[in-house]
Amino acid sequence: MAEIVDLGAYGKDFTRDPYPYYAKLRAQGPIHRVRLPYGNDVWLVVGHQAVRAALSDSRLNKDWRAAMPQGDVGEESALFTNMLDADPPQHTRLRKLVAKEFTSRRVEALRPRVQQITDELLDTMLAAPDGRADLVEALAFPLPMTVICELLGVPSMDRDAFRSWSNEIVAPTSDEAAQAAVVAMSGYLVELIETKRNAPGDGLLSALIRTSDEDGDQLSRDELVGTAFLLLVAGHETTVSLLANGVRALLQHPDQLAALRADFSLLDNAVEEMLRYDGPVETATWRFTGEPVEIGGTLIPAGETVAIALASASRDPEIFAVADDFDITRDARGHTAFGHGIHFCLGAPLARLEARIALRSLLERCPDLAMDADFDDLTWRVGMLRGPARLPVRWKSWS
Ligand code: HEM
Repeated sequence: MAEIVDLGAYGKDFTRDPYPYYAKLRAQGPIHRVRLPYGNDVWLVVGHQAVRAALSDSRLNKDWRAAMPQGDVGEESALFTNMLDADPPQHTRLRKLVAKEFTSRRVEALRPRVQQITDELLDTMLAAPDGRADLVEALAFPLPMTVICELLGVPSMDRDAFRSWSNEIVAPTSDEAAQAAVVAMSGYLVELIETKRNAPGDGLLSALIRTSDEDGDQLSRDELVGTAFLLLVAGHETTVSLLANGVRALLQHPDQLAALRADFSLLDNAVEEMLRYDGPVETATWRFTGEPVEIGGTLIPAGETVAIALASASRDPEIFAVADDFDITRDARGHTAFGHGIHFCLGAPLARLEARIALRSLLERCPDLAMDADFDDLTWRVGMLRGPARLPVRWKSWS
C-alpha cells in the first residue's frame, strides 16, 4: 500500500492555510494516502479532474452502514437516514421527494425575510458602542440558523442547544460527546415531527410530512428525522463559513473590496469567487469502496475510505489561472464548493441568496469595515468544514 502522508503533522499551519500543502500533493499526483488532521487514514483525491470524476463515480458508496463490516456500524440513528448518506435507488427516491417541496419558488419567497433578518442583526451589531464585533456571532451564524429554522417551520427551537449538538456532530470533541449529541438531536427531531404531524403549519417540514410522489411514495418517520437533520445542519454550518471566509478574503484583499464597493453588479460573481477561493466544505463527506476501484491511475482496494478535497480542486491551476489569487472578476465557474454529481448541494440557491444579501448589506452599512485581529491569530475549526471560529471586525474610523 502507498506510503501515508501525515497532514496532521503540519499542525495549525495546515488548518490555517492548507492550500500550499494541497498544491504540493497535486503536483505529485491526483490521489494520495493521507492521515487527516483529525486522525483518520484515508485516500485523498486532490486534482480537479479526479475530484469531479470521483464525485460522480457510482463505484464509490455513500451509505456507510452498508460499507462497514458486519457488526461495526456503531450506534444506529435515524439522523443518518437521509439522501447524503444514501446511494441510488434510495438516494434518488429521497432527493426527489425533498426536491419536490424544497423548490426555487420556496427559496425565492424567502428573499424579503432574509433581508429583514440581516437588517435586524446588523442593527444589533452596529449598536455596539466600541464599534467592534465577532462577525461569526453577530451575523454569519445567526442569519443562516434563523433562516433554516424558519424555512422548516421550527418555531421556538432552543438554538444554543441545537448549535452545540450540531457542532459536536460535525466536529466531535470526543466519541461520547458526539454520541450524546446524536441522541439528543434525534429525540428533539422525533418530537418536533410528531408536533407538526398533529398541528401542520406551512413550513417545509410540514410539507415534507404531507408530500408524496405520483406513486403515493412518502417519507417514513426515520427519513423525515434524517432529512430534517440534514437540512438543519447543512443549512447553517456551511453558510456560516461562506460568510466568514468570504468577508475575510475581501478584507485581506483591499483592491477587491474596493472594486466590489464601487460596483455591486460584481456581487454574484464575487460570491462564486469566495466559494472557489476558500469554500466552506474543505473535504466532501466520505465515500467507501465496495470493490477495488481505480481513480487517477491508482488502484484503491475494497473496504477503504475516500475523502475528496473540494478545496484543493477549486485551486487547481490547470483549471483556474493564478488559482491562488482572489479575483472577484474571474470566471469561477467549475469550482467544486457545492460538490458535483448526484449529491450536488440541494441548498445552493438558498446559500447564494443569503450570502448576496448579507454581504451587500454589511458592506453598505459599514463603509470602514476592517479586521480587528491579525489574520494569523484566527482560530480555525478542524474537520471537513473550513472556517474561522471567530472573525473579529471593527467598523468605526477612529482617525
Ligand atoms: C455555502 C453554503 C453551502 C455549501 C458550500 C454546501 C456544500 C455542499 C456540498 C459540497 C455537498 C455535497 C457533499 C458531498 O457530496 O459529500 C452538499 C450537499 C447538500 N447540501 Fe449543501 N452546502 C451549502 C448550503 C446548503 C444549504 C443552505 C442547504 C439547505 C438548506 C444545503 C443542503 C444540502 C443537501 C440536502 C445536500 C445533500 C444532497 C444530496 O445528497 O443529494 N446546503 N452541500
